[in-house]
Amino acid sequence: MCGERRFQIGQRMEQNTGSIFWFTGLSGSGKTTLATALSTKLKELGYKVYLLDGDVLRTGLCNDLKFSDQDRKENIRRAGKVAKLFMDEGYIVLCTFISPFCSDRQIVRETCPNGKFHEVYVSTPLGKCEERDPKGLYAKARSGLIPFFTGIDSPYEKPNNPELEINTSNCSIDAAINYILDYVLEIKL
Ligand code: PPS
Ligand code: MG
Repeated sequence: MCGERRFQIGQRMEQNTGSIFWFTGLSGSGKTTLATALSTKLKELGYKVYLLDGDVLRTGLCNDLKFSDQDRKENIRRAGKVAKLFMDEGYIVLCTFISPFCSDRQIVRETCPNGKFHEVYVSTPLGKCEERDPKGLYAKARSGLIPFFTGIDSPYEKPNNPELEINTSNCSIDAAINYILDYVLEIKL
């Protein structure tokens, strides 16, 4: 009985599949939608998954932050730290933040062991994001009601060398999820 229990605990420790999938892209590009669908699929496959979303973090841990460059940097720093904690516990952490600055994303990457940080660039173009405008934020930004809106009057630096790139204006969510799952298989997570 005792031996059996030790074996089970040892087995779990061997299955340390922790890693971070970092979804970056404009507001309305599809980050949350993709990560939510991916989370469901990965859980069905037996992975431990945790989804960390910008909108959600900004209602709690980061509710003191706004959208200046400095606050966005701090937002990503905190998000990266939380993601790392979950990753170290063996979770696949799906992070969905605009995270507009290459340097901030790079800092998170560098806190992870090699091969554990996977940058997913959701490259849906601004025109399409603005056409969707799911929360009405682009309309407000254009009329001056929301200052420092990413893509309008606040910058977005696209990744130079992302592990994955998905443009949701020319592929379905299902196709995008299959593309990510192929990658998960390839890297043997
Ligand atoms: S960041 O840049 O990474 O710190 O932003 P993030 O934490 O991901 O939060 C983005 C969500 O905040 C809403 N929102 C804004 N986005 C961009 N610019 C401005 N000024 C802004 N104000 C509010 C919006 O709902 C973003 O969510 P997504 O899912 O990206 O649309
Ligand atoms: Mg979102």
